Amino acid sequence: MTDNFERLMSRYTGDGVYLNIDGVRYIDAASGTFNLQLGYTNDRIASKLKAQIDRCAHLSSAHTGAMSQCILEKLIKHTPENIDRIWMRDVTGSGAVECAIRMAQKYTKRSGVMSLFLAHHGQSLATAQISGNAFRLKNFHVNIEGSLKIPVPASVMSDPEDSPPQENYYDIEDIYQCGSNENIACLIVEPILGNGGNIVLPDVFYRNLRDFCSKKGIVLIADEVQTGFGRTGTFFASSGYAKTLKPDIIVFAKGAGGIGIPTGGVLMSKELDVLEPFEHSSTSGANPLSLIAINETIKIIEEEGILDNVVNCEAFLRDGLLSLQKKYPDISGVRGVGYMYGFDTPNMEYAAEAIHIAEKHGLIIRGARYGKSRALKVRPPLICTKVHLQEILTKLDATFNEMQQSPFSQSEVA
Ligand SMILES: Cc1ncc(COP(=O)(O)O)c(C=O)c1O
Repeated sequence: MTDNFERLMSRYTGDGVYLNIDGVRYIDAASGTFNLQLGYTNDRIASKLKAQIDRCAHLSSAHTGAMSQCILEKLIKHTPENIDRIWMRDVTGSGAVECAIRMAQKYTKRSGVMSLFLAHHGQSLATAQISGNAFRLKNFHVNIEGSLKIPVPASVMSDPEDSPPQENYYDIEDIYQCGSNENIACLIVEPILGNGGNIVLPDVFYRNLRDFCSKKGIVLIADEVQTGFGRTGTFFASSGYAKTLKPDIIVFAKGAGGIGIPTGGVLMSKELDVLEPFEHSSTSGANPLSLIAINETIKIIEEEGILDNVVNCEAFLRDGLLSLQKKYPDISGVRGVGYMYGFDTPNMEYAAEAIHIAEKHGLIIRGARYGKSRALKVRPPLICTKVHLQEILTKLDATFNEMQQSPFSQSEVA
């Protein structure tokens, strides 16, 4: 008799950018949980993992420090110049963000964290508290003393006519002076706010953050859990689109595991290499399977032209989404960089229904509970070709065509 667990698990099979559920094929424009840079399956990673499972699936991080250094050697080709150290003892983004905060606190001997409204930095007690939305905080109680949240600017839009003016942002120092006790260790920012609705920050805002942090001796952390590992067309956003941010620390996780193998870590400048091993670690941090996955993912990104693919196909994706925005009044505010796009729908109920209708058309897209929950996100695996992107756009077209009949639609139905 087949075990029920086996039956349930075997309902799902991946095939590159596709997920089959009970034999029905979906193209996944959300890359799983925004973590499948290389899709659901990859032969190179799978064969390395299988070989390692036969050797041993676990090693204490006491044995894997040298392997983490090999990964650092590969990664520093892609990091901003000042960043040349690694701390790899995490398998989640939340853990890695906490590691970065610890480094900043120990280095500055201060406590507080500045972060942005609408930001998402994780679901542990501390990272939920610094995230910029209250719904995950209800019922739970934690506070990093001295922490402060600052407003997020309006997103840069793909259609320049929709974009806000690039000047006159609020003065961060004013907020700091009015709202903090000056006990701030670090400022953490996602170069593009992922869960917040795909908010593309303007270059001038990155510069303002960098200037402010330098002036106050505050450690600037780029949370690249979503934007890292090629998502925006460069290895890290802070070495491409967001290079003027010049962070002191980069946090990575999610896509670093290529096909969803959990991994996470922190890249930092020499001065911030201050932690003792016992100060930030976890049982599975830097386990062999994580290390194999990240090592092979970096090699595949480099050897198989993954970044070039994103750069070469981005305009196709963006123009396709902008055409849909022209066609359907229910779509507005197309925005993004690389393969990290999003747009708004009229309201929360509409967005939820669109996700459901898209599924009927064999397309997986995801929404966001942050803000007014009306944004939808299109973030395909980085291996998507123009043919895959066309399939996603065609299915979106069919979805929004059907959505014109929805009671939540704002378009006039003849
Ligand atoms: C930008 C960002 N930081 C941190 C995290 C937390 O990562 P994890 O869920 O692996 O703990 C997430 C997860 O969505 C994220 O998007």
